[in-house]
Amino acid sequence: MIKVAILGYGTVGSGVFEIINENKELLTANTGDEIQIKYVLDLRDFPGDPCEKVLVHDYNIILNDPEVEVVIEVMGGLKPAYDFVKSALDAGKSVCTSNKELVAKYGAELVRIAHSHNRNFLFEAAVGGGIPIIRPINMHITADKICEITGILNGTTNYILTKMDKEGADFESTLKTAQDLGYAERNPEADIEGYDAVRKIAILASLAKGKTVDFEEVYTEGISKITAEDFKYAKAMGRSIKLLGKCKNEDDVVVASVAPRLLAPDHPLYNVNDVVNGILIRGNMVGDLVFIGSGAGKLPTASAVVSDVVDSIRHLNVPTTIIWDEEKLELEDFSKSRKKFFVRAKVSKEEAESVFGSVEYIDAGIDGEIGFITDKISEEDFEEKADRLGKVVSRIRVEA
Ligand code: HSE
Repeated sequence: MIKVAILGYGTVGSGVFEIINENKELLTANTGDEIQIKYVLDLRDFPGDPCEKVLVHDYNIILNDPEVEVVIEVMGGLKPAYDFVKSALDAGKSVCTSNKELVAKYGAELVRIAHSHNRNFLFEAAVGGGIPIIRPINMHITADKICEITGILNGTTNYILTKMDKEGADFESTLKTAQDLGYAERNPEADIEGYDAVRKIAILASLAKGKTVDFEEVYTEGISKITAEDFKYAKAMGRSIKLLGKCKNEDDVVVASVAPRLLAPDHPLYNVNDVVNGILIRGNMVGDLVFIGSGAGKLPTASAVVSDVVDSIRHLNVPTTIIWDEEKLELEDFSKSRKKFFVRAKVSKEEAESVFGSVEYIDAGIDGEIGFITDKISEEDFEEKADRLGKVVSRIRVEA
């Protein structure tokens, strides 16, 4: 019997509780031992809930119980999660978490502490919800240099952009619908401004490169400025607009970003719609691998957490292979990165061409402005030209 404790009985925590009980036989077969939830930690009480018999309010009960082999942290946030996880690892317990904020900020350190005790710090659910992506990068795509990771990493924004695309709706009303349906938080900033996606791409990039990509150094732009008119142009181009987290080798440097981009129908992520997440990994030997599935939600996320519990029990006193050094990976200055830009501006074609040279015009039937696609130019070059042109309504990067 392997004893585990769940920290946090919210959406994911109750999902973990449910899966461990519902799939007991299967999990026993998969781990070779029965998993017993010895404690659930939460500040709240849950009268009548099955967790009631094992509910505790004091973390020290779990920390000081040598029978607890695996701690499952599903509280979210940094405080007190960081202290709880660190002390559990220092006490020689393995930890599995879905907490992307914790992993993005302290992942390398927590992996190091776990390994120093021959234990594991696992976080499959922190990126892509139920999609297996951390383990494939760590354990399966090990014969390749990973040249590119491009991901739709946030279900809320993908839902909003899909609805705007299919229904021609504007951003504000679509966000409200997403909130009413419970897909978007009442305070949606972390999702719509890209702060959630940037943590996720930083985690994937760190694992792909083996060093720490600091999410605070990654260029981040959300979707709150995308309009129904932008989608009219996208339609005229036969493209869609998706919020993409990207980490890519460009010549000898690594460029990372989160930003809305125009995607053509032949792109592997073009058809990833609604709350679904999708991740494209480009290896220098294997080529393209695409992972698609539920990026959020109670059971998909809890399923990924429990898969980590199984892994940590299979490797109880053996660190599994996660190469993630605390040394920082130097990213290329995003302003040097080159691409095509789609531009809307209230200028004449002559004015546009006098600044950007020859461009490809897009007609979406919108009066009083023109839309065009530039040649491939650097971000800083684009900014300088856009300033010189003036009267720019919006610009969206074009995904190659
Ligand atoms: N808010 C996140 C999303 C939840 O919409 O994808 C999963 O991390």
